[in-house]
Amino acid sequence: MNQDSVLLPTIEFIRKTMAGAEGGHDWWHIFRVWKMALRIAESEDADLLVVQLGALLHDIADVKFNNGDEKIGPRMAGEFLDSIGVSVETRDHVRKIIENISYKGGKEVQSFRSAELDIVQDADRLDALGAIGIARTFNYGGHRNREIYNPGIKPDLNMDKEAYYKSSAPTLNHFYEKLLLLKDRMNTETGRRMAQRRHDFMLSYLDEFYREWEGQE
Ligand code: ADP
Ligand code: NI
Repeated sequence: MNQDSVLLPTIEFIRKTMAGAEGGHDWWHIFRVWKMALRIAESEDADLLVVQLGALLHDIADVKFNNGDEKIGPRMAGEFLDSIGVSVETRDHVRKIIENISYKGGKEVQSFRSAELDIVQDADRLDALGAIGIARTFNYGGHRNREIYNPGIKPDLNMDKEAYYKSSAPTLNHFYEKLLLLKDRMNTETGRRMAQRRHDFMLSYLDEFYREWEGQE
């Protein structure tokens, strides 16, 4: 099967389905994750069609934006992949990637692993870090009408999945509840290396944030 005959309709499907999405989870997030997944895959042994379809479809119906329903995304992706005639193996692997990629507060046990999932998960996590990660985080906080920072509300590192999705804490807490924990959870060598640089950038950003908060020069 020609890869373009699968990828082009997939891209069209995603752009249509995600039109109007929150700026941190829109087509451009998907585009960056897709490119990054291909880049990481250069140093890994993986099925590039599964990697690309996993990256392209991973946020097709995000749990956060669908009242906590974890089944919609994999189901929509599966139905779409059937409609364009990919193999059952590829379809099922992509579904598993979508089911298992999310951080969900970091307390859930991941029930499936593969080289392809490792790659797409690293690509998605890298987009949560660094300058782009900071932009996405504040955009999401704004979208949910959250405070930027509140020194009286401390980060909560023990939230289960439900509490994590329901949280209305200030956006700065998200750095401690998720973003700064990601660099130690990367799957691939390339992912780990790139995460470190983005991690360090977020630490300098936070440093500067608190300096300004305290009114220092
Ligand atoms: P996961 O499902 O793996 O946690 P998400 O899709 O929830 O990934 O998160 C993607 C990005 O959305 C985060 O990296 C962050 O930028 C933003 N985001 C998600 N939850 C929050 C939150 N509670 N506060 C601020 N930003 C958030
Ligand atoms: Ni994503």
